[in-house]
Amino acid sequence: MKRSIKTCKSLKDLEQLRLSLFGKKGSFAKEFAKMKSLPNSEKKDFAQKLNADKELFLNLLNDKKMILESEAIEQEMRDGSVDMTLFDSTPTSGALHPVMETMDKMIEYFVSMNFSIEEGPLVEDDFHNFEALNLPKYHPARDMQDTFYFKDSMLLRTHTSPVQIRTMLKEKPPIRIISPGAVFRRDYDLTHTPMFHQIEGLVVDKEGVVSFANLKFILEDFLKYMFGDVKVRFRPSFFPFTEPSAEVDISCIFCKGEGCRVCSHTGWLEILGSGVVDPNVFDAVGYKDVSGYAFGLGIERVAMLTHKIPDLRSLFEGDLRLLEQFR
Ligand code: DAH
Repeated sequence: MKRSIKTCKSLKDLEQLRLSLFGKKGSFAKEFAKMKSLPNSEKKDFAQKLNADKELFLNLLNDKKMILESEAIEQEMRDGSVDMTLFDSTPTSGALHPVMETMDKMIEYFVSMNFSIEEGPLVEDDFHNFEALNLPKYHPARDMQDTFYFKDSMLLRTHTSPVQIRTMLKEKPPIRIISPGAVFRRDYDLTHTPMFHQIEGLVVDKEGVVSFANLKFILEDFLKYMFGDVKVRFRPSFFPFTEPSAEVDISCIFCKGEGCRVCSHTGWLEILGSGVVDPNVFDAVGYKDVSGYAFGLGIERVAMLTHKIPDLRSLFEGDLRLLEQFR
């Protein structure tokens, strides 16, 4: 019997063995029944021996049960469709996300032009994000940026422009900064995601030192650095924090200005917003007798253009099939 238990191959067989020993009609039941017909003097010894055997067999059964159970689990793991141990040992290399790679390239340019980098909080207050940028409460231009609000007039910054205000409040001119980072708007379609990235620029110096001509030079040079040999065009526009304001376009990098689907057959791609800092912004931070220029652009838009990525949302889905192309 001991051997049968030790060599038993399945839980089912083991259960049969257990029943044959400990079932109602099992060997032990029969043995214990014999006690009745024994003389009293032998009963004690007989019972002691029988109980010792009983314990021995119970232990054997239990041990074997544990072994068979863990074997069954292992078998189940081997047969199961999810093989947790399957491991592709070929080493793979990671890569910068296209948005970070594009951001790094922009930073590299501006740092080489002597700009320093400033950062600001993602959770902003109304004053820095709007008010001080010449966007008073109920101003219709606030609608240009669908905002995520918290309680107590806090919000997720809708652009990197509040860093202009933070920098001017903590430093004296001259100022020459860029500020890259995440921004948030309530928007979601082919070309909009609720979180995206911008880079902001601000240059301020004594009245008359910084002009629109400086702005034109830097932005043209920057766009040629990013896109190669493109034409650059300044188009009059409106931003509350700059006056005059200009939107800056480059000749379409796909059709070289001929007109195609990407540029909506205009030959031009809109890339950034810019302008001469509005005097109201300087008033808000207490700056006097200064002039300056500012600009801001979306980083994803540039990454999408340079990498020919048709859907902005795909940049944030973490799909390795897309990301692996940037190794
Ligand atoms: N903050 C603007 C936006 O998010 C971009 C911008 C335009 C920034 C003009 C500027 C600027 O600094 O001068 O759409």
